[in-house]
Amino acid sequence: MSSGNSSTTSNQMWGGRFAAGPSAIMEEINASIGFDRKLYAQDISGSIAHATMLAAQGIITAEDRDSIIGGLKQIQGEIESGAFEFSRKLEDIHMNVESRLATLIGPAAGRLHTARSRNDQVALDFRLWVKAELELTEKALSGLIAAFLDKAEQHADTVMPGFTHLQTAQPVTFGHHCMAYVEMFGRDRQRVRHAIEHLDESPIGAAALAGTPYPIDRHMTAKALGFREPTRNSIDTVSDRDFALEFLSIAAICAVHLSRFAEEIVIWCTPQFGFIRLSDAFSTGSSIMPQKKNPDAAELVRAKTGRINGSLVALLTVMKGLPLAYSKDMQEDKEQVFDAAENLELAIAAMTGMVSDMTVNEAKMKAAAGAGYSTATDLADWLVRELGLPFREAHHVTGRVVALAESTACDLWDLSLDALQDIHPGITDKVFEVVTVEASVASRTSFGGTAPERVREQIAWWKDKN
Ligand code: ARG
Repeated sequence: MSSGNSSTTSNQMWGGRFAAGPSAIMEEINASIGFDRKLYAQDISGSIAHATMLAAQGIITAEDRDSIIGGLKQIQGEIESGAFEFSRKLEDIHMNVESRLATLIGPAAGRLHTARSRNDQVALDFRLWVKAELELTEKALSGLIAAFLDKAEQHADTVMPGFTHLQTAQPVTFGHHCMAYVEMFGRDRQRVRHAIEHLDESPIGAAALAGTPYPIDRHMTAKALGFREPTRNSIDTVSDRDFALEFLSIAAICAVHLSRFAEEIVIWCTPQFGFIRLSDAFSTGSSIMPQKKNPDAAELVRAKTGRINGSLVALLTVMKGLPLAYSKDMQEDKEQVFDAAENLELAIAAMTGMVSDMTVNEAKMKAAAGAGYSTATDLADWLVRELGLPFREAHHVTGRVVALAESTACDLWDLSLDALQDIHPGITDKVFEVVTVEASVASRTSFGGTAPERVREQIAWWKDKN
């Protein structure tokens, strides 16, 4: 056995790529600066609020406060201009900033960390970041809702097939279909607003987990940082990541909604359906088949759901079974949230663009709406209403009418009155007024139904809210 194995040599069994030995592995697994540098602005405003409060409470001098704040502002400038040198040895954004502050202003920098810990500091920075992101998401969803409202308004009378099991069921309007998505994204936006309300409490001052003996004023820092109030339990404060989980669950549900419309776009763009055309801006060509126009943006929106849902499951799994209070496991929260946020923003933007730019082929939609005897229920309802037939019998008579139309390969409205009267003598030519697709949708005037007048009422209600 060779002796002389120093701690700086890499381990023969597992140290292949770590030339500098175990400490390099430790540094790599421990450091978060690679991703948490995104929190620099929140970290600096948190520190400014904290230093201001420490001075107001007589915990540090006004002089130290001023040099701390001056130094922090300079650091913010350095980061924004790209001049700042981040160091992995300093682990994270908090220590990178503090170490630079020491270089800039000397010993006063050491007073900034009085009455706080990185545990409440990171909770603060991340909350502020998630709050800002939720506000962006709220705006983005309002833009998407507006795009759907515009389309719905243009197409409140455009008839298309309504589907169940992706089989033609009953005619609806495209406006009504668009408004279904307005409802979904409207719920997502409500969830965003609730999440902002839930997280609107300031963690700073919880310190490591138990609070601090210094006479701090947590209400003051909460106010300065735009929070409603401080959190109430210091142990919960440093171990809570519900705000991140809520963001991810909202993102996941929203991504699922986006993927459903994305899927419909993909189907509707096929030559077989031909209901819509995407603009050139939101489609791509094929490198080999010149005739093709592919809905890549819709496909990618559909696919983003995978990683966003994955982020939710990842963070739920990180948090599961963690004992109170802070554990380093929680450092794994950020990448999931950053990735989901970036991709959700992109997916909402792409969907907003696709919806605004798409053109609708009304003739194709209308033809498909009438195919497959989609107004057969309207005929049965007419027999019940006008001839007083029991619904079961009306259903049977309608079945025979459909069979007749099928055997001559025509639509219900193309059958002759004589032929209809052979099936049931009570039928009059009034029946032709209800079996068209326009008549079918116009008749569905129940609240929330597809009749154009009802859809217009819903559009007006939403425009008022948006
Ligand atoms: N980088 C850490 C994180 O993201 C900051 C908190 C570190 N706290 C600690 N006790 N080591 O969670």
